Amino acid sequence: MKILVTGGAGFIGSHIVKKLSERGDKPVIVDNFNNYYDPLLKKDRVQQFLSECKFTVYTGDICDKKLMNQVFKKEKIDKVIHLAAMAGVRNSIKDPLLYQRINVLGTTGLLELSVKHKIKSFVYASSSSVYGGNKKTPFSENDNVNNPISPYAASKKSTELIAHVFNHLYGLPVIGLRYFTVYGPWGRPDMALFKFTRNILKNKPIEVYNYGKMTRNFTYIDDVVSGTLIALDADLKYEILNIGGDREEKLTSFIKIIENCLKIKARQKLLPMQPGEVPNTIADIRKIKKLGWEPATKIEQGIKNFIEWYQSYYG
Ligand SMILES: NC(=O)c1ccc[n+]([C@@H]2O[C@H](COP(=O)([O-])OP(=O)(O)OC[C@H]3O[C@@H](n4cnc5c(N)ncnc54)[C@H](O)[C@@H]3O)[C@@H](O)[C@H]2O)c1
Repeated sequence: MKILVTGGAGFIGSHIVKKLSERGDKPVIVDNFNNYYDPLLKKDRVQQFLSECKFTVYTGDICDKKLMNQVFKKEKIDKVIHLAAMAGVRNSIKDPLLYQRINVLGTTGLLELSVKHKIKSFVYASSSSVYGGNKKTPFSENDNVNNPISPYAASKKSTELIAHVFNHLYGLPVIGLRYFTVYGPWGRPDMALFKFTRNILKNKPIEVYNYGKMTRNFTYIDDVVSGTLIALDADLKYEILNIGGDREEKLTSFIKIIENCLKIKARQKLLPMQPGEVPNTIADIRKIKKLGWEPATKIEQGIKNFIEWYQSYYG
């Protein structure tokens, strides 16, 4: 199948493109290679990580409707995996308008084109951040998510709302995936594992928010890929699904695993909670388990894989 992967040069997108290509699908990437983080990493994902894969790349903005219409038309797209977005909670506080424009308007334009071009399935990235400051854990798809606490979270919740509208009005199959803190090789430089590894190796202090009193449901990239493809292949009409790893990890034990792997003790700078961040995330994954998905990677293995990649890529 011809699968449009928006944000295909990104962390999650590049891994999905790899898997799609390996299993014989024809991925089509649209990515604008923006400089939210080093665009060279995005280029290297495409040129090095995906060097053995077959795919087509368009460099452009998902908000460019003319370009996107041409891509849908020329490539005869069957299904869409929409991952292109401005990610990152803290950055969204600095530039909320940008997050609305790319994440909400950009998605709306793609939904319109997906109806026009009779797309069979529109799978899109939402986020665990939609659960905001919810106290009840684990976070379930049935919980109320009307209290986002960052512009990024609000943009992801808005994406879910507009996707629902297109399903209701036009019967477009839309499947929203609430990813929980994804990590792994070729990961994002603005995320904890990347920043901690980099700073520990450079003997710089790592910034530990909420004085370390945080937990995260880390999800290994290969598990995110398999969950996304299960959702793509299943004959779903409308769904919101959590994709989260198998256990809630304390930030302090996460740091210990990195230290053990690197065999270096981290210098920690303990800081208060950052605006927009939530103290704990843990996913209720019963719904996606019913589709046959199970997180398979233990965090010790996942962190080891990341560090091996980091050391070989950065030398
Ligand atoms: N990584 C996580 O832990 C996580 C968790 C929850 C949700 N998500 C969501 O998953 C998706 C992928 O995240 P990621 O971690 O791979 O991030 P990423 O930043 O590595 O990937 C996003 C890609 O989209 C591209 N992009 C951004 N704006 C664009 C635009 N206007 N037009 C075309 N391309 C554009 C970027 O250049 C980038 O390559 C995002 O929607 C993100 O919000 C990620």
